[in-house]
Amino acid sequence: MERYEIIGGKKLYGEVEIDSAKNSVLPIIAASALVDGNVFINKCPKINDVISLVDILKSIGAKAEFINGGLKINCDGLNNCEIGKDLAGELRASVCMLGALLSRFKKVKIAYPGGCSIGKRPIDIHVKCLKKLGATVLEEDGYIECSAKSLKGTNITLDYPSVGATENAILASVFAQGETVIFNCAREPEIKDFVDFLIKAGAKIYGAGTSVVSVKGVKRLKGVEFTPMSDRIEAGTFLIATAVSGGEICLKNCDFKNILNLINKLANYTCKITKFNDIIYIQSGKGGKPFSFSTGPYPLFPTDLQPQASVLSCVSSGRSVISERVFENRFSHFECLKKMGAIVDLDGSVAHVRGVRRLAGAHVCANDLRGGAALVLAGLNAEGLTIVDGAHHVKRGYNNFDEKLRALGADIKLTEK
Ligand code: UD1
Repeated sequence: MERYEIIGGKKLYGEVEIDSAKNSVLPIIAASALVDGNVFINKCPKINDVISLVDILKSIGAKAEFINGGLKINCDGLNNCEIGKDLAGELRASVCMLGALLSRFKKVKIAYPGGCSIGKRPIDIHVKCLKKLGATVLEEDGYIECSAKSLKGTNITLDYPSVGATENAILASVFAQGETVIFNCAREPEIKDFVDFLIKAGAKIYGAGTSVVSVKGVKRLKGVEFTPMSDRIEAGTFLIATAVSGGEICLKNCDFKNILNLINKLANYTCKITKFNDIIYIQSGKGGKPFSFSTGPYPLFPTDLQPQASVLSCVSSGRSVISERVFENRFSHFECLKKMGAIVDLDGSVAHVRGVRRLAGAHVCANDLRGGAALVLAGLNAEGLTIVDGAHHVKRGYNNFDEKLRALGADIKLTEK
């Protein structure tokens, strides 16, 4: 079991390079199953979720290797459309294989996806989309089995702008007969990036990044090289790390417009933030104001930054209110933050926080990816030693998190228990 040991109180200075976006790379890896020939994903982070999805592809006959900082995939030899519990249960994005393999083989059997325990996370919207395209779906013994004689273009309206369901609906319609129009799509920038990959491979898709996406079925996709967008959640995590630790840093390979919501909030807080091309510079301010926010689908405040931003609320003066409106059970980090001296009152999906001057080091345990990152940020702020067990959760989504923080001057090490 790996854990982080952090001695808080060091300000952060220097530069950090942001990796490619996990939530863009994962559906792109799944989409590789539709491509004839080689796919090369430039600057592919070797994080645990990526490794798990690559293992899934390999288990059904794909060839894949990490080379030159990228990931090369060839799915010409795919020979199986069944994915078991041990593999699918490793991550949430395994659910994208549902649409991808249905598209390629017209049948698929896959165990329910895993991923962070942050809510019930049903897949009813995914299933509705596939049924609408003509698939028969059977859910039994922890598996979803879909098959179709042929998939036919149609109009689909999502009950909620789910990121994964939007991706599955698109994947399942790429080879469908005729045109599919999907309404109430998720508008997250990662969807547009994933669609840009598919378009480069030859798909005909219009409107990604808006709430209506149309897909005109094509016969095949061809090999492609693609550089994914930068990770707005990793960038946001480093911005918040600077706000809670003090100091000033430059983030390289960032897309300012994708994290505007956080940047405006930090700028209204006490941080100074400027941008130059793909570089964001942040200088932390002197506490002083509450930090309240509500999460929601893009372009609202991202739920994937809620735990990290909660740490800032805990060390801001006055009373902050945090409202989590995407996942119903994404407050488990608060129990640990309380152990570190945070003053928090939870009322369902609303947290009322009374700021303290500084947190205190403690032995805590990460329960999920972003909650784990939040505890590391809390450790950077805290007085004394903080131990964060469960580093494997954090490593699912952050590439060299401890190394990057150390290079900025943080006193953090990854150790084995
Ligand atoms: C994706 C991201 C995750 C992010 C989330 C919201 C990936 C790999 N993961 O997850 O990091 O936190 O978007 O931005 O891209 N829902 C249903 N039924 C469904 C599908 C979803 O009720 O069939 C609900 C979920 O329980 C949740 C909400 O919709 O409450 C949003 O989920 P969704 O957008 O689907 O998130 P994911 O695609 O799982």
